[in-house]
This record gives sequence, structure tokens and C-alpha cells, in this order.
Amino acid sequence: MAPTVYVINGPNLNLLGTREPATYGRATLADVETLCREAGDRHGFEIVFRQSNHEGDLVSWIQEAGAEGAAGIVLNAAAYTHTSVALLDAVAAIAVPVIEVHISNVHAREPFRHVSYVARAAKGVICGLGPQGYALAIAGLAGLAVKGS
Ligand code: DQA
Repeated sequence: MAPTVYVINGPNLNLLGTREPATYGRATLADVETLCREAGDRHGFEIVFRQSNHEGDLVSWIQEAGAEGAAGIVLNAAAYTHTSVALLDAVAAIAVPVIEVHISNVHAREPFRHVSYVARAAKGVICGLGPQGYALAIAGLAGLAVKGS
């Protein structure tokens, strides 16, 4: 079976497409999923794609990816990025590389978005490139898998 990459999306990302389009664009979460599955096909990954508005779901899915021995996680924790010690602890607890992704350039936005708890334990961070950031993160995980680092 192909190695698995979990793509985990946090609160309000179910509203992509209609939510603040000047900031997040017009692509829907279904469009993002398609993009991730195409990137998964290119790099030989099975994609598990999830979204929740609840912090505990995100923690449980990160733990699940760790227990399943996933090849990696692409994590857009949305607003929880900037608030959640629980998500930081979950990412730190697993031996699976996590790439933090944001559609918008959080560093060009309000100061509270410049802080990421998740980033302290993430392997890398991609932001500001729109939905293609997810595909780039999947490519990055493929590179890490080849390098074995
Ligand atoms: C986001 C950026 C976060 O600051 C915000 O709370 C989101 C989306 C992004 O993808 O740009 O919900 O993670």
C-alpha cells in the first residue's frame, strides 16, 4: 500500500470559496482536496483529507497519523495555529514530519497571526502561496521521504 499523507484542515476552512475571497481566493475546500490528491498521485502518496472546526478533532487526527506511521502531515490549523498549545504538543509527540501551511501570508497580516505555536514543532512552513502551498508541502514530504530526513 502507498505511504499515506494526512492533510488536516482547521476551523472555517470548510468555508473556502466564499470566505473573505480577497484574502483566501475563490478555490473551495473540495478544490484544495483535488489538488492534494493530484499531488499525492504524482508523488506516490495516498491522501487522507480531513477538516474540522473542533480543536480536539485535529489533535486526535495528528495522533492517528502518528500511530498509523504516516509519511507526513500537511497541517493548516487555521486560527488554532496562533493559539493552541495542544496542537503544538500533538505535533511534538509524533515521529511524523509536519508541514504547516497557510493559504494567506500570515506575516503580512495582523500581529497575532505572526505567532505560530505549531511552527515550533513543524518540519517546515509554507504560507502566502494560496492553495498550491498544499501541493508544494506534499512535494516537500516526498523529498524528505527520499532523503530519509
Ligand atoms: C489561515 C491563516 C489563519 O491566520 C486564519 O485564522 C485561517 C486561515 C490561512 O490558511 O491563511 O483561518 O490558516
